[in-house]
Amino acid sequence: MPKTQDYFAGKTIVITGAASGIGRATAKIFAREGANVVCADINEQGAHDTAEAVNGAGSQALVLKVDVCSRPQVDEMAQRAIDAFGGVQFLFNSAGAAIRRAKFLEIDDALMKTTFELNVNGTLYGMQAVLPHMLKNKLGVIVNMASMAHRRGGPGSSIHYAAAKGAVVSMTMGVAREFASQGIRALSISPGPIRTPFQDAAQSSPELVQRFLDDVPMKRFGKPEEIGELVLFMCSDACPFMTADTVYVNGGGGWR
Ligand SMILES: NC(=O)c1ccc[n+]([C@@H]2O[C@H](COP(=O)([O-])OP(=O)(O)OC[C@H]3O[C@@H](n4cnc5c(N)ncnc54)[C@H](O)[C@@H]3O)[C@@H](O)[C@H]2O)c1
Repeated sequence: MPKTQDYFAGKTIVITGAASGIGRATAKIFAREGANVVCADINEQGAHDTAEAVNGAGSQALVLKVDVCSRPQVDEMAQRAIDAFGGVQFLFNSAGAAIRRAKFLEIDDALMKTTFELNVNGTLYGMQAVLPHMLKNKLGVIVNMASMAHRRGGPGSSIHYAAAKGAVVSMTMGVAREFASQGIRALSISPGPIRTPFQDAAQSSPELVQRFLDDVPMKRFGKPEEIGELVLFMCSDACPFMTADTVYVNGGGGWR
């Protein structure tokens, strides 16, 4: 929760991956707080549905069809967001995926490339697109989606994905430290398994999903809203000394 009442009213967040799962849940939470929400996703219809929920909460939404793997499209996303709302204070890079599951010796160049383009380049482009604007205003918070996988290495199914999310954690730390004295904060979140269409998109087997669940001491999946509320806290004025780190949200699971 923000320290200041109505802290988010009239401020703007750009959310990539806003058409589904964690991105959509976060869009609704920021709408509840009165923020303008830029709903960016490669899935335009899904982004429209999220925007409807934002508008339904009385906040303003802008829908943008964006492939985060395309630098020109991400640059245009940032410019259109600034033009529409007069400024952007927050960026949440949620677009990401494990693409497909593969054992280590089956990871080919194409899978490695696609995984890094989406999770790493997509995050890099988003940060580079909004940072000049945030630096001008000496105000900005960037939250990037990493994963618990980066801490465990993803043996047997997702080393490509774990490595990409490790890069997200490192890049976030570097950006946070490079711009720490200029009003910018950057943080990443490393969730355990969260109940969204993510596992379907990665064609995870039921056995793999069960293994993820068995590893969680709370014996349940996280809810996308549980990540969204953390994004809200990170972006708020509640703890402005917080920057650079990744925060684990996993019901007590994994390596801590
Ligand atoms: N769900 C989990 O268990 C889990 C755990 C750890 C980390 N994560 C991470 O959380 C983030 C959100 O995942 P989710 O669970 O909400 O999954 P999701 O599949 O529900 O949502 C991902 C969204 O990203 C969008 N997207 C995919 N490729 C894109 C592209 N090239 N350009 C723009 N948008 C694109 C999809 O259309 C989708 O709307 C991802 O970065 C994921 O790696 C998820």
